[in-house]
Amino acid sequence: MENLPQGKQCWQAPSNIALVKYWGKYGLQLPKNPSLSFTLQTSVTTTEISYKPADKKTPGVSFQFLFEGETRTDFHPKLKVFFERILPYQPFLKRLDLTISSSNSFPHSSGIASSASAYAALAAALVSIEQSCFPDSDPSYWEQKRSFLARLGSGSAARSLQGPMMLWGEHPAFTGSSNEFAIPFGHKLPAVFLDYQDCILLVDKGQKKVSSTLGHGLMKGHPFAEARFDQARTNTLALATAMEAEDLEAFIQIVESEALTLHAMMQSSHPYYILMRPNTLHIIEVIWAFRAETKIPLCFTLDAGANVHLLYPKQHQTAVDVFISEQLLEYCQDRECLKDSVGWGAKKL
Ligand code: PMV
Repeated sequence: MENLPQGKQCWQAPSNIALVKYWGKYGLQLPKNPSLSFTLQTSVTTTEISYKPADKKTPGVSFQFLFEGETRTDFHPKLKVFFERILPYQPFLKRLDLTISSSNSFPHSSGIASSASAYAALAAALVSIEQSCFPDSDPSYWEQKRSFLARLGSGSAARSLQGPMMLWGEHPAFTGSSNEFAIPFGHKLPAVFLDYQDCILLVDKGQKKVSSTLGHGLMKGHPFAEARFDQARTNTLALATAMEAEDLEAFIQIVESEALTLHAMMQSSHPYYILMRPNTLHIIEVIWAFRAETKIPLCFTLDAGANVHLLYPKQHQTAVDVFISEQLLEYCQDRECLKDSVGWGAKKL
């Protein structure tokens, strides 16, 4: 067996926000329904991996992990599971020693799920290592492999590699759609969506009370599961159609309904739980009142937490900025929000 080279690969990957939600999985991180997301731009993880031929043989992957410059062994159990999952697809990793250094552009305790950007950046750097060790392989294969490996870390991470939108999960209306990896979506979308804004209103900066792994699990045997999966398939096509037609009213209606349905699934599972906080509801009401009064087409979505993502077209930025500081920040922890917008995915640094 020839010797592997040594080197360094560094990638930056953004977070993403789902418009049609992935909630419920089977097998190894395969989704029960298709989902559609906006790729974000400023909420990113940067990951550098230094690699060299392994000093000695170990049963798994030999790695060290640093987060924001500090050795963090508390991340090891999750990373170990990730490496066990990806080893069948990257067996050469057993022959390397890896030093992984990662950092986020957003504060650690912001209540922002960092797993999407984190696994996307890690998967992309690992794929670059594979490319450097085996340079002759087919280039079109790498794009899919990045998303495929990211998915094995965290399902939604599959959607953080490219942009401006990503589709993950098989859907009969979309050729090439797959449960195994996400594909770029929306290159033909009206310009309004290509620089859509997402202001993340930080209602609760703490750790999630119930992990999404647990939440996905509760969709097994959930009384409304099959109806929900059907609805997500219908909404995926309806949202794509509304966006192509630049029908913002339909866009808003589907996006907000998806967010509320996601939380309704949590509230109707056994055991039931609530991730929204009173301020989540205050913000939703204030958004609805502002939209009714100004006719500015802004709307909200939620991920698996209390924070609210305020989505709106860039042309309304000035008015929305005033609205945020005058009417929404009072409901945010420490009056904080994170301003982001639609982006084009991961990049090699
Ligand atoms: O990738 P996970 O397992 O953390 O699940 C994410 C699920 C939601 O954020 C609630 C929805 C989604 O599609 O991103």
